Amino acid sequence: MTSNPYPLGLRLHGRRVVVVGGGAVATRRVPALLDAGADVLLVAPELTPALRARADAGRLHWVPRRFVPEDLDGAWLVQVAIDDPTAAASVSAVAAERRIFCVRADDRTAATAWTPAVTRHGPVTVAVLGGGDPRRAMTVRDAIRDLLAVRLAPTQSRPDGATAAVGVTAGRVALVGAGPGDPELITVKGWRLLTEADVVVADRLVPGLLLDELRPDVELVDASKIPYGPSRAQEEINQILVDRALAGAFVVRLKGGDPYVFGRGGEELLACAAAGVPVTVVPGVTSSIAAPAAAGIPVTHRGVAHEFTVVSGHLAPDSPASLVRWDALAGLHGTLVILMGLKNLAAITATLIAHGRSPQTPAAVVQEATTGTQRVLRSTLGAIAADLVAADLRPPAVVVVGDVVDALNG
Ligand SMILES: C[S@@+](CC[C@H](N)C(=O)[O-])C[C@H]1O[C@@H](n2cnc3c(N)ncnc32)[C@H](O)[C@@H]1O
Repeated sequence: MTSNPYPLGLRLHGRRVVVVGGGAVATRRVPALLDAGADVLLVAPELTPALRARADAGRLHWVPRRFVPEDLDGAWLVQVAIDDPTAAASVSAVAAERRIFCVRADDRTAATAWTPAVTRHGPVTVAVLGGGDPRRAMTVRDAIRDLLAVRLAPTQSRPDGATAAVGVTAGRVALVGAGPGDPELITVKGWRLLTEADVVVADRLVPGLLLDELRPDVELVDASKIPYGPSRAQEEINQILVDRALAGAFVVRLKGGDPYVFGRGGEELLACAAAGVPVTVVPGVTSSIAAPAAAGIPVTHRGVAHEFTVVSGHLAPDSPASLVRWDALAGLHGTLVILMGLKNLAAITATLIAHGRSPQTPAAVVQEATTGTQRVLRSTLGAIAADLVAADLRPPAVVVVGDVVDALNG
C-alpha cells in the first residue's frame, strides 16, 4: 500500500546537501538548492560547464570522483542525479542507513523524498506533488502559477526600481512594451499581462493584432486619439492610468517598442507613483535594434562596429531645444540609429557630414519594420535624404548609419 507523502518546507540555509552526479539532472537541481542557501557538496567525476562555473565561483564544493559513503558525513539531504541504478541504489542505501532523506532521479519509487514542481511569487512558494507523476505535478503547478501571477504579481511603484509590497493588489498599472510591429514580438510576460487587463491604453504604433485578441469586456483607450497638444495629451494619458487604477482596474499601458525608449514611460511611472498606484514595467523589443535587424543589419558586428548609438531626430540639429550633440556623433565610427528622423533627415545628414562623417558611409532607412508592409532603402549618408524623398518612404521609420549596413551583404 502506498501512503500519501508528508509535505515539508526544508530550511536548508547553511546545511549540507550532497548531490551525486554532475550531469543534466544535477544542473537543473543545484540552482534551487543554492537559492535555499544550502551548503552543496557535489560528488561527480565530471561536471557540466554550468556546474563547473558554479564550482569555480566558489558557490559549491566539488569532489571530482565517484561517491564514497563518507561523503554523507554531516549531510541533511542527498540528491542522487545519476542514471546508473546500481550506483544510485548504493547511495540511497548509505543514506537510509544514516536516516538521511534521499531524492532519486533514476527511480522515484525507491526514493525517500520527492522534489515537487514549484512556483515562487515573492515570499510565497507553492510546491505541487503529483502522486508520483511529475507531469501531473507540472500541469497543476502551471495552472496555479498563472492564477497567482494575476493575484500576487510583484509590483514596482518607485522610480528607483525598488519593489513595493507584494500582496493582492486592487488597481495597478503595467507599462508594457509591445515590440516594433510584429505581434509575435511582444514578450511572454507582456502578452500574459495583456490577457489579464481590465483596461488597455494603447499607442498608435502598437500592433493592431494584439488589440484584436483582447477580451470583449476590456475597455480599450486609444491614446493616439486623445486631443490637445502633445504635453496635454500626455497629462490626459497619465490621468486615465491613475483614475482607472484607483477605481480598482488592472490597466495595461501598451506602448510600441520599449516603454523607456522615446516612449515617455518614465513620465507615466512617475505620475502613477505620485498617486500611489503600483506599476510593473515590462521591457519591449525596441525598434532601434529590431528595425535594423529585420532589414538584415546587425547594429554591431565583429570587426565592423563596437558601438551603437540611438538618437532621436525629432528636432533639427540647429533647434535650440535639441539635446543631441550631432557634432560629437559625427566623430564616432560606430553605428548611429536615428528614430523619428525622417522630417529632419536632410539637415541631420548635412550636419554629420559637415562635422567629419564621410558622405560615403553606408546608410539605410527601414520603414514599418517587422510588419507585412516593411520597406528598406539602402543608400549612403550623402544621398539618403534625397533617395528617401524619391522612394516616398514615410514614418514610422528608423535610419541606420554605419558600415554595419553592408556587413551582411556578400
Ligand atoms: C515615439 S518613438 C517610440 C519608439 C519605441 N518606444 C521603441 O522602442 O521602438 C517612435 C519612433 O520609433 C520608430 N519606430 C517604431 N516602430 C517602428 C517600426 N516598426 N519600424 C520602423 N521604425 C519604427 C520610428 O522612428 C518612430 O518614429
